[in-house]
Amino acid sequence: MNPVQAAHTIELVRRARRLRRSPGIRSLVRETRLSAEQFLYPLFVCPGKGVRREVPSMPGVYQLSVDEAVREVEAARADGVPGVLLFGLPEHKDEMGSGAYDAEAPVQAAIRSIKRASPDTVVVTDVCLCEYTSHGHCGVLVDRDVANDATVEQLVRTAVSHANAGADIVAPSDMMDGRVGAIRKALDERGFEGIAIMSYAAKYCSAFYGPFREAADSAPAFGDRRTHQMDPANADEALREVEQDIEEGADIVMVKPAMPYLDVIRRVKDTFGYPTAAYQVSGEYSMMKAAAARGWLDEPRAMMESLTAISRAGADIIITYYAREAARALK
Ligand code: PBG
Repeated sequence: MNPVQAAHTIELVRRARRLRRSPGIRSLVRETRLSAEQFLYPLFVCPGKGVRREVPSMPGVYQLSVDEAVREVEAARADGVPGVLLFGLPEHKDEMGSGAYDAEAPVQAAIRSIKRASPDTVVVTDVCLCEYTSHGHCGVLVDRDVANDATVEQLVRTAVSHANAGADIVAPSDMMDGRVGAIRKALDERGFEGIAIMSYAAKYCSAFYGPFREAADSAPAFGDRRTHQMDPANADEALREVEQDIEEGADIVMVKPAMPYLDVIRRVKDTFGYPTAAYQVSGEYSMMKAAAARGWLDEPRAMMESLTAISRAGADIIITYYAREAARALK
């Protein structure tokens, strides 16, 4: 008898393949279900009108003037994406990054316009100074190093200005010590006790932010961010960072980047049970785009697999440049 046609040739009670036989069965037993409702979509808002400038290292990502940002938000909502994370490109930069809290700057104007056009859109704002300082560092420099407490003061002004413009959630991404508590206190004192804080709690000093710095024009003019962002080798420390931010009043905690730090996402979720966000950063996006452009990766599959992995690791919220594409794929 032909062994291939034999009913079975080995005694085997457990056969994992029984549950992989058809799309219907596979879907019935699927453990992780991605949903567009989990996605936040980062946008780069720049001065001007009618501006839609593609970022060379991030195909499909644009610097958008406020009017174009509103159109992009409406398109994202139509795709099923619930919210956006705003970054700004200011008209002028200075040593102190004071453009970050200018009520007329692109981010503040975009918050107002988006909320007017689409009140249900969740508007989250990135709170950092690197896009606003002439030297590209995330804060105020003293002796060529970022001074923690002086920077926190600038971040507080920025967060308050975003809340004044109508942001729902402010997201400090600077990694200064004590900034969550200082922002919480300042918001509460001004009647913004309902505005949530999503803290970039475990933010690593990562090579994967490279393309973002082109998108946001925020590369440091000298040096790097190693004195404030986390060492990639550390995970216990991430738990301490997250714990401190929660104690200071963070409502949502974030791990960033996502795919190289899936273990950290899992530990943060298991340890604290807090709403946990993960940021699939620019470099994660760009490397898939670049490989796909060369025919080396099947992009739709790589996109969904990477997002599924981030969700499986424990992220409730995924910040991704693929938000619109992935939301459409999930329809
Ligand atoms: C601001 C900030 C950065 C990112 C988000 N907020 C850059 C950095 O820390 O240098 C990176 C996002 C991305 O790479 O997509 N500090």
